[in-house]
Amino acid sequence: MSESTNDLDRRDFLKLGSAAVVAGAVAARSRPTVQAQSSGGFLAAPPIDLVRIGFVGVGLQGGSHVNNLLKIPGCRIAAVCDIRKERTDWATKVITEAGHPAPTAYTNGPRDFERLCADEDLDLVYTATPWEWHVPVMLAAMSHGKHAATEVPAATSVEDCWALVESAEKYKKHAIMMENCNYGRTEMMAFNIIKQGLLGDVLHAEGGYLHDLRSIKFEDRNEGLWRRAWAMKLNGNLYPTHGLGPVANCMDINRGDRYDYIVSMAGPSRGLQDWAREHYPADSSKRQETYVLGDVHTSLVKTANGKTIMVQFNTNLPRPYSRINQMQGTKGIIQGYPDRVYIEGRGRNHQWVDAAELREEFDHPLWREMDERAAGAGHGGMDYMEDYRLIKCLREGLATDMTVYDAASMSALVELTARSNESKSRPLDIPDFTRGQWRTNPKLEIVHA
Ligand SMILES: NC(=O)c1ccc[n+]([C@@H]2O[C@H](COP(=O)([O-])OP(=O)(O)OC[C@H]3O[C@@H](n4cnc5c(N)ncnc54)[C@H](O)[C@@H]3O)[C@@H](O)[C@H]2O)c1
Repeated sequence: MSESTNDLDRRDFLKLGSAAVVAGAVAARSRPTVQAQSSGGFLAAPPIDLVRIGFVGVGLQGGSHVNNLLKIPGCRIAAVCDIRKERTDWATKVITEAGHPAPTAYTNGPRDFERLCADEDLDLVYTATPWEWHVPVMLAAMSHGKHAATEVPAATSVEDCWALVESAEKYKKHAIMMENCNYGRTEMMAFNIIKQGLLGDVLHAEGGYLHDLRSIKFEDRNEGLWRRAWAMKLNGNLYPTHGLGPVANCMDINRGDRYDYIVSMAGPSRGLQDWAREHYPADSSKRQETYVLGDVHTSLVKTANGKTIMVQFNTNLPRPYSRINQMQGTKGIIQGYPDRVYIEGRGRNHQWVDAAELREEFDHPLWREMDERAAGAGHGGMDYMEDYRLIKCLREGLATDMTVYDAASMSALVELTARSNESKSRPLDIPDFTRGQWRTNPKLEIVHA
């Protein structure tokens, strides 16, 4: 699919609501399913000795990735792009201070990443732009022969999810959604415990993104410039991947199981309205905004193997942070916030064990190996882990920990939750982006530094 069609589909979806949404659904279902995935499971591209990176969007999170990449051996940030020159100036400063050559800077407007993708000799284009730019940047990167990596969510429509899959397959390039929560210490310990069979068969999981972002959404800088706008456009789970990523790994999604269908429900939209009223005068333009995003979203996903996942989204109401992070197996349960574990036959019946007590025994090897190196990096070190693993996989020609199928299957929920909400929680099929390969795709193994 061309980029312009792609943009049009998304605009229609956002503007027209359910009619366009249903049309999009039909289009998604009738897509040709003829393209072959690379043989033997997931793509493993030729090894790259020095990974040359173009970074698009060097704001808060992009800046954090730039700092991480400067500490990772075997990569070089050769080009940077941002619509704000002060940010490419900042990136140039930190890159040269780290002893690397100055990157080429692209600051000529919101589509200047296209020039970066076309003109630069790069191996990877990595984007941490606002959500609406992830897909255009990734498609431009792949069509110009570069691997692509993006912040979350990878896409906001089912059509765009297919576009990423088709482009990755066509150009044989990685299209990776950088879900840092997959590298959280508790999440990785849970994966390790589950891999060892101690939880039995995981039958149900729960995850979410429950984060009071009201003050951030109303700032006149950074995310305040774009994140609140999405609350005026779409009543869906706009951020499903933090909660889903880790539980997907624990449930072998796209690697033995897959998301089959979803039902979703959203409650009233009050949090942002109340915040605006309490913080801005009556004549403020922020008081004139109309939000459609319900404050609490709850979705249920059924997998092809009959298992269940509950996903929640709430960024508009006062509450402490949580991603829930619960895995219920036939022999025990792990639950986050606070982190605790119950394994039948260990400890006292019916009593939680503090997860910290199990770290000595079950800490994921990657954390044991990288704890010190990751210290001080963004989000408790997990951002460094994901960047390190990305570069290592590219340098060694390995399949990446997260694949384009993970990016697509999780990000598709942005649109699907909105559509289910709009139609009395009607169940909706979640496309099988692997086209049947989920049955034989290799399991995610315990990865190392
Ligand atoms: N994984 C996480 O924990 C995490 C945390 C924060 C943000 N994020 C994600 O990172 C992304 C960026 O968020 P942020 O907090 O850094 O926001 P931000 O607003 O601080 O940064 C976005 C940057 O992109 C630039 N930009 C906007 N449009 C552009 C374009 N067309 N071309 C080039 N540059 C452009 C902006 O000028 C800005 O510098 C989002 O996708 C967000 O969801 C992820």
